[in-house]
Amino acid sequence: MAHRSARELALAALRDWRTSEKFADAILARLLSSSDLSGPDRAFATELFYGILRNLILIDFWIGELRSGRLDDNARDLLRLGFYQLFFLETPEHAAVYETVALAGPRARALINGILRNAVRTKDPLRGAAKMQTLSVQTSHPQFLIDRWTRNFSAENTAALCEWNNRPAPIYARINRLRISTPEFLSKYPKTEPIPARQNFVRLTNIPTEALAEGHCYIQDPSTAAVCELLEPKAGEYVLDACAAPGGKTGHLAELMENRGSVVACDRDPQRIRTLQENLERLGVEIARFVEHDWATGEPPVSLAGSSGFDRILVDAPCSNTGVMRRRVDLRWRLRPKDFSRMPEEQLRILRAVIPLLKIGGTLVYSTCSIEPEENQDLIRAASREFPFLSLMEEIAWLPFRDGFDGAYGAKLVRVQ
Ligand SMILES: C[S@@+](CC[C@H](N)C(=O)[O-])C[C@H]1O[C@@H](n2cnc3c(N)ncnc32)[C@H](O)[C@@H]1O
Repeated sequence: MAHRSARELALAALRDWRTSEKFADAILARLLSSSDLSGPDRAFATELFYGILRNLILIDFWIGELRSGRLDDNARDLLRLGFYQLFFLETPEHAAVYETVALAGPRARALINGILRNAVRTKDPLRGAAKMQTLSVQTSHPQFLIDRWTRNFSAENTAALCEWNNRPAPIYARINRLRISTPEFLSKYPKTEPIPARQNFVRLTNIPTEALAEGHCYIQDPSTAAVCELLEPKAGEYVLDACAAPGGKTGHLAELMENRGSVVACDRDPQRIRTLQENLERLGVEIARFVEHDWATGEPPVSLAGSSGFDRILVDAPCSNTGVMRRRVDLRWRLRPKDFSRMPEEQLRILRAVIPLLKIGGTLVYSTCSIEPEENQDLIRAASREFPFLSLMEEIAWLPFRDGFDGAYGAKLVRVQ
């Protein structure tokens, strides 16, 4: 078990993130799993690491204001750590400077100390200078995202969206009524907070380990429920969840079906299917069959092709995830402009493979957690042109800055012939 302070752990995470292709969540989980930090120190390390990733452009702007010369990457990481404490946290100034300088090697110490002390002295002018910068700098979002959202949603909504993405996300859970009723859940776990607009969802302040282990609830955002409700699966039906892992929506579908009928839960990723299986077992889902298949490779599995067609199909497609950016702190640094043409191609390939499996009269719901029209409304228009026997019945689109939950999209199509 490595003994590292919270600041050391955050610094190690920053270095790993900068020098590898790994996801921020995976880096942090690995470092925390081998750490002996207390609960509050773990939270502090997480806040430092995620907070810096959320505010990277702005922090680097401030560093650039105070240091025009060359700066090596390790010194920059240390400065990012110091600036985040000084400008975003209530860390007393002497502690922020002293504890950060203490992590520097002997040769970098004077430089880090000098810049951080200068930052303490010039905090107000630095804040003022930031206000004169573009939204991209002020909210640390790549300019191409700002440009596309401004075109799609207006400048005002884009500013609101960027601020939304920078606020840590609350944690919500769906009460799993296959295991426990809502009143029982609320009396057994009184620290959870019911959400008036969504009866079977609660807001969590602490992760209720026991409730999760017992399958009494599953961590997911209320916006995920809307697409399951749009599909309206009934007890006894034959349902395909085409992109099912890790299973949040499969669990909800099985609940709506009262554990009667059959859900084929399909995914292309064997590791994720294992997690899906474990999750559904814990949730008490008894009607799921698991199939590993990549829809992009054409022919559906023999076991599926032989059936007379599904009553209902959910395609919860892989997507750019721009509706859940507040939960994926490094997503904005991974996305590239070409992703917004690559993703729709992949999504359409999946739909093309899945649509023939829907029986006449059957319902298909296509969903994403993206807020981009190319992956949502435009894609459904293209699929409707290609498959004229599908009739578009309903569309829902949740926008974080308007609806106050994660962004999500769902389209309900019925096969008329
Ligand atoms: C948005 S996630 C699904 C989330 C899931 N429905 C839930 O609620 O937990 C998309 C899933 O699609 C899978 N996937 C991506 N491309 C696929 C393909 N071509 N064929 C099958 N599954 C695919 C991914 O492995 C991923 O697990």
